[in-house]
Amino acid sequence: MRFLCFIAVAGVARFAFAADAKVPLDPMTGMKMGADWETVRNHCIACHSPQTFLRQRATEANWTSTLEWMQTNGGLWKLDPAVQKTIIKYLTTYYGPSASGTDRRPPIPATLMPLNPYATEARLEAEAKKKEGLPPRLSAPR
Ligand code: HEC
Repeated sequence: MRFLCFIAVAGVARFAFAADAKVPLDPMTGMKMGADWETVRNHCIACHSPQTFLRQRATEANWTSTLEWMQTNGGLWKLDPAVQKTIIKYLTTYYGPSASGTDRRPPIPATLMPLNPYATEARLEAEAKKKEGLPPRLSAPR
C-alpha cells in the first residue's frame, strides 16, 4: 500500500514538473500543447504571430495586464471571464517566469562595460546625474 502511494505521488509530481519541460510543441504554431492550448490558439493568433507571446515570460498579473492592454488598445475582443481565466492560466503555466528566475541574466555592471564610443558631453552629464540619483535632465545649451 505504501508503495502504491509512492507511485501515485511520484506520478503527480512528474505531471507537475512536466508542465515546463516535456510538453510537445504544435508544429503549426510552436505553442506548447499543454492543457487548454487550443483555447489560447483560437483567441490569440488571429492578429499576430504566436511568437508575440511565446517569446515572453510573465507573471499572472503581467499576462492579465497585457490582455487588458490589448483589449483597450489592440482591438482584442472582450473575453468571457472563464475563457480569459483559462488563457491566463495557460500562459502563466507554460510561459511564466521560471522558478529559478534565471531566464535573463542580470545587467552587466557598468564597471565591466567598455567605454561608450558614442559618449557626448551631454550624455556623460546625464549618466553622472543618474548615478547620483538625480533626474538625468540636461543643462541648458551653451
Ligand atoms: C484583435 C487583435 C488581437 C488579438 C486577437 C490578440 N492580440 Fe495581442 N496584440 C494585438 C496588437 C495590435 C498588439 C500590438 C502589436 C505591436 O505593438 O506591434 C498586440 C501585442 C501583443 C503582445 C506584445 C505586448 C508587448 O509586450 O509589446 C502580446 C504578448 C500579445 N499581444 C499577446 C496576445 C495574447 C496572449 C492574445 C490572446 C488572448 C492576443 N495577443 C490576441 C492585437 C491582438
